[in-house]
Amino acid sequence: MAILPPEQRLWWNVPIQRSELIWIVIAFLWGLVMFFTMILWHVWGEQNLSNEAYRIDPDTFAARTEAMVEKYKVREEGTTGIPVVRPPPGSDVYMLARLWQWYPSLELQKDQSYRLHLSSLDWQHGFSLQPANINLQVHPGYEMVITVRPNATGEFSVVCNEFCGIGHHTMVGKIHVVDKN
Ligand code: CUA
Repeated sequence: MAILPPEQRLWWNVPIQRSELIWIVIAFLWGLVMFFTMILWHVWGEQNLSNEAYRIDPDTFAARTEAMVEKYKVREEGTTGIPVVRPPPGSDVYMLARLWQWYPSLELQKDQSYRLHLSSLDWQHGFSLQPANINLQVHPGYEMVITVRPNATGEFSVVCNEFCGIGHHTMVGKIHVVDKN
């Protein structure tokens, strides 16, 4: 039983067993393999993005998002009342997460670059772009900035993949990618 001391009191002086040493070496090497895989996956996997992160006050982020929506809104997303925003290529684009929606929907042009800013107004949310399977954590108080250049047209879903309460499963945003015109 664990509450009794080992029979041999100076057990830490016993030389390490060969099999245990082998497992320590294997575990250490595997740790190194996984560490370098992170770097390789960034280069070849194209899923660990080169993001920038800055501190930002949620109110400031909301105000910037609202200013963009007012300027570039083109329509609403079906009957949801969520605006669809078509910002000019090269511009700063904002998408905010809150309980339980992504706001607003975006309409981007294929093969054009945008600076996409992501932040949360309340809890932690997850930005999971489907079906491209690009994933980022979105926190209140910080903005993630990524340079995006859509390489395919179509309708993409932004699924929240961090559990954020009762409405988590309904938290789906939209990014439309259209041909350049
Ligand atoms: Cu937001 Cu889950």
